[in-house]
Amino acid sequence: MERLVITGGRRLNGEISVNGAKNAAVAIIPAVILASGVCVIENLPYIEDVVSLVDTLTRLGCKCGFRDRHTLVADSSGVSETQAAFDSVRKLRASYYLVGALLGRFGEASVTLPGGCNFGTRPIDQHIKGFEALGAEVRIEHGQIIAKAAKLRGAPIYLDVASVGATINIMLAAVFAEGTTVIDNAAKEPHVVDCANFLNIMGARVKGAGTDVIKIQGVPGLHDCEYTIIPDQIECGTFMIAAAATGGRVTLKNIIPKHMDSISAKLSEMGCSVREGADFLTVEGAERLKPVTVKTMVYPGFPTDLQPQMTVLLCVAGGTSIVKETVFDNRFQYITELRRLGCDVTIDGRVAVVEGPAKLTGADVTATDLRAGAALIIGGLCADGATSIGNVKYIDRGYETIEHNLSSLGADIKRVRAEEPT
Ligand code: EPZ
Repeated sequence: MERLVITGGRRLNGEISVNGAKNAAVAIIPAVILASGVCVIENLPYIEDVVSLVDTLTRLGCKCGFRDRHTLVADSSGVSETQAAFDSVRKLRASYYLVGALLGRFGEASVTLPGGCNFGTRPIDQHIKGFEALGAEVRIEHGQIIAKAAKLRGAPIYLDVASVGATINIMLAAVFAEGTTVIDNAAKEPHVVDCANFLNIMGARVKGAGTDVIKIQGVPGLHDCEYTIIPDQIECGTFMIAAAATGGRVTLKNIIPKHMDSISAKLSEMGCSVREGADFLTVEGAERLKPVTVKTMVYPGFPTDLQPQMTVLLCVAGGTSIVKETVFDNRFQYITELRRLGCDVTIDGRVAVVEGPAKLTGADVTATDLRAGAALIIGGLCADGATSIGNVKYIDRGYETIEHNLSSLGADIKRVRAEEPT
């Protein structure tokens, strides 16, 4: 087992290019199943979740190959298998997109229930509600989601929650459905828009992505395409917060500044300087970080996927800060590990009260999920002495060689085999 070992106390300085968006990639790769020809997808992050999904598509009969680390060439004309029950499916939550894509193309799908980060219940009732509205019969049996439809017909669907996964999954299932599908209370995240744009470039007719109402007009088929996915809002935000936490000055390149607005605003409120260019931004930490209240919301609000990283930043800010998690019902499990570094955080349900500035000291900690792992890295960067982080596999699911990027910014971080002395 590998660990990341960080010796803290160094300011991050310099510039890095942000990778392609994980949550766009894990939606667009399954969407390839809907195409009848060859798709070339560029700017993919080379992360575990992408490799797992490409492996799954290959097992379904899709001819996949990487032209380079970040470019996938996929020909799904030969896909005939509608049963995805491989180990690779269980590894990630985004496997559920295989249901929408297989159901959309073949009228049937049988997919192992998804895995992914464990922070509270992560139901899929809204996905099922959408598939059933389109005319599918859906049941869960022997750990599989089984969906079948003699014919998919467009329908109005009002989501009880603005679910990212349900919005994208219904879009995928509705692409060829007869007539018009309307998704109301749709999620507006950048990766929802990116997936809609990918479908449209192949000939789909998806309108309104990025707003509360998405309309999908069924089409007979989709053609070849070349597509470049958007930069990763969460990776960019993670490095912005790390720069602020270490009092450094970091420029993030190849980004969409608009996607970062809620993070830029919050860091500015804390006293940091955030300066934007056309496709980059520069964050400069403040000598004294001010306490703030952070409330996670669906896009364009503050992203829940940056809540753990922000909580660590607030631990090293002065005064009392409040973090309200409104998207998931149990996303503070990582606080136990943060306390090993000396963080002073009290949890009350979906609210965390943070007392700062805490004097962090290095410790052995374990990542409980992907973004919790990123938060522990930031904690290690701020702590006196060495921090050793276990369960690096979680971090590798969402960040491409994070230690290389951080080292290039001056961090003392290395990946070691567990049996090696840390
Ligand atoms: C996506 O998860 C992301 N994952 C998550 O990122 C992200 O935290 C989340 O959206 C919110 O932005 C991927 O895109 C692969 P949701 P998803 O459906 O689709 C409830 C990361 O670190 N809900 O928008 O599972 C649900 O319980 C990961 O990159 C239902 O009630 O999130 C939650 O409270 C972690 N019924 C809320 O909606 C449903 O059918 C938002 O969930 C679906 C969801």
